Amino acid sequence: MASLSHLKPGERGRIQVTVDVAGKRGPISKAVQVYSNDAKQPVVTLTVAMQVKDAVHQNLGYQKISSPARIFDAKCRSCHADQGRGKLGFDLFRADCLMCHSAGSGPLSMTQMKRRPASFLRRIIREGSDDLDGASQQAMPGFAWNNGGSLTDAEIESLVSSIRNP
Ligand code: HEC
Ligand code: HEC
Repeated sequence: MASLSHLKPGERGRIQVTVDVAGKRGPISKAVQVYSNDAKQPVVTLTVAMQVKDAVHQNLGYQKISSPARIFDAKCRSCHADQGRGKLGFDLFRADCLMCHSAGSGPLSMTQMKRRPASFLRRIIREGSDDLDGASQQAMPGFAWNNGGSLTDAEIESLVSSIRNP
């Protein structure tokens, strides 16, 4: 929104720009087009660039892209692993997986992974992935106990069956 609708030659004004950052993270930019009756430049594009902070993690000093396996570190477990204790199936998915696998642009949702073969699901949940398709910048942490994760085989099996047969 412009502070003045009429500017004399050489006069200054302000433009207020609102950006919806819901669901956004990291560097983002927005282009704003300004229309005027200027003979030489009737349209000017302004770009507003910003860094959207990650409110959940910014005080924990962690590098999310380089080390997803760190979700099992002492200072991360309370949110990323302990919530799932004693839970199975869908409840376990909601506690330990949904924060990364909700519907949206990120990793597949529970419904979207339903068609994957059980053997694939079992392996990914146990061992994680450094980069499944070579395109993703983020990786899936391995959840099996013997990979430093928080889940037993029985718990992992309960996830596989509720993903496949919701
Ligand atoms: C206070 C709870 C809490 C703590 C503690 C926490 N996280 Fe998270 N984490 C979340 C939530 C909630 C999400 C879901 C995405 C979001 O809202 O940022 C998430 C998402 C993530 C993701 C997915 C990528 C992303 O950012 O979207 C990674 C990786 C991650 N956390 C790593 C860690 C690591 C490593 C630690 C410990 C240094 C940690 N988290 C500590 C709550 C927490
Ligand atoms: C810290 C975030 C995070 C958490 C927590 C997490 N995942 Fe993932 N997961 C990912 C990411 C990122 C990928 C995509 C990996 C890639 O493309 O390399 C992924 C991939 C997967 C895939 C493969 C999907 C495909 O593309 O075929 C499955 C299955 C999966 N996760 C299941 C789970 C289950 C079950 C849990 C809970 C036990 C879980 N994930 C917890 C981040 C997470």
